[in-house]
Amino acid sequence: MKNKDAFIRLSDVSYRFGERAVINQLSLSLDKGVSYALIGQSGIGKSTLLQLLAGFISPDSGSIYINDKKLIKPRVKTGFLFQELGLFPWQTAFDSIKMPLQMHTSVQKESLKSSVFKWLKELQIEDCHERYPHELSGGQKQRVALARTLITEPDFLLMDEPTTAIDAMTKESIQALILAQHKKQQTTMLFVTHDIEEAVYLGEVILIMREGGKITRIPNPLFGIENNRETLAFYQACIDVRKHINLEMELDEVFTHNK
Ligand SMILES: Nc1ncnc2c1ncn2[C@@H]1O[C@H](COP(=O)(O)OP(=O)(O)OP(=O)(O)O)[C@@H](O)[C@H]1O
Ligand SMILES: [Mg+2]
Repeated sequence: MKNKDAFIRLSDVSYRFGERAVINQLSLSLDKGVSYALIGQSGIGKSTLLQLLAGFISPDSGSIYINDKKLIKPRVKTGFLFQELGLFPWQTAFDSIKMPLQMHTSVQKESLKSSVFKWLKELQIEDCHERYPHELSGGQKQRVALARTLITEPDFLLMDEPTTAIDAMTKESIQALILAQHKKQQTTMLFVTHDIEEAVYLGEVILIMREGGKITRIPNPLFGIENNRETLAFYQACIDVRKHINLEMELDEVFTHNK
């Protein structure tokens, strides 16, 4: 798993809550521009790993490097999409999307406005710019949160269950949007999901997490193929991933598939 050219490198990272080592000496590398789906049982440590990579919490031991720089605090260029979205009831969609740019840069008022509108348009929510969260549908809220994350043009995007709270139809459109943005921006992306189809649709590499934060990588050759969800091969790949997960849970050993 050692890769000198990796964009993200975890070296012997451990993190514990009290007595429990949620992540135990994890070494992992993530390549630039690749999309990774992180899947694993509830409570196994997926959100903890994302928090570590975001720099919100620090490893008890070991180190994390992003672009060869040791991570010691949250980076401006890392975007984080929270499961609960984190939209404030007192902010309109416009204000919410504007906020990260205002915080991180001294952008002029006019260019701030045009940036926000660019993203409102990109995510097809232009009509919603004056609305507060309670006036938005679940899918629209998701788009506002996504626009707010993407406006700083992150080079590393972390998403914790980005589509769990939305209905099936909206989910597909948000997934298509995430995939289109990923292709366009070539962002390195790591997202958590409980949905195997989502992992196969959005993940170029699927990471299965087990006890102690052990990770198995499964390359996904179907990633990015046009209309792949309309093919039997896609569903066969989902079955294969499911078998893998079941096997992982049964066996107490790790198969490491290097890319
Ligand atoms: N602040 C905390 N204090 C103590 N234990 C915690 C804390 N946060 C998480 N844990 C524990 O750490 C473990 C990993 O939690 P984490 O949230 O990373 O799991 P997860 O894989 O994201 O689960 P889920 O799929 O349910 O979101 C769990 O056993 C959880 O109970
Ligand atoms: Mg979680």
